[in-house]
Amino acid sequence: MSGKVRARFKLNGEDVTAEMEPNQTLCDYLHDVAEKTGVKKGCDTGECGACTVLMDDKPVTSCLVLAPQVDGREVVTVEGLGTKSRPSPVQWAFVELDAVQCGYCIPGMIVTLSWILEHAPQASDSEVRRLMSGNLCRCTGYLQQVEAVRRAAKRAAAGGAPEPHDIY
Ligand code: FES
Ligand code: FES
Repeated sequence: MSGKVRARFKLNGEDVTAEMEPNQTLCDYLHDVAEKTGVKKGCDTGECGACTVLMDDKPVTSCLVLAPQVDGREVVTVEGLGTKSRPSPVQWAFVELDAVQCGYCIPGMIVTLSWILEHAPQASDSEVRRLMSGNLCRCTGYLQQVEAVRRAAKRAAAGGAPEPHDIY
């Protein structure tokens, strides 16, 4: 008897069946077991937002979720939003605007800002700042990140999905 718990869920669009430690956090499971290394552990107490993922299309701090709680749900990490050769609209804008410094907060921030782009594309700058207040960055000052979601929203409104291209 292993003591592990079975969970069936969708991860970045793929069906997954996994045996999980009952007391493992979703953050640790995604990073260490599922190898979604874009999921970063900062504070491990729900304060910094570095571990943010979408669960059933809502941003959650995965360090506050037990891994088996994903059973029957859908999880999206930054890896599910875009790739190097096909960046998501927010990732594309981040690159254009040099919105990344050390990078540690960026995957979680891109998850939150992508959610804002999809669900609140008309949000004012102050509303964007409020919605991203759970994603702390010690480097950038947040200006380019707000501008990135603004630019991605304008581009989407103009019907301009990003063309696939290499960002490096
Ligand atoms: S590591 Fe989860 S909120 Fe900081
Ligand atoms: S870019 Fe360094 S913490 Fe945000």
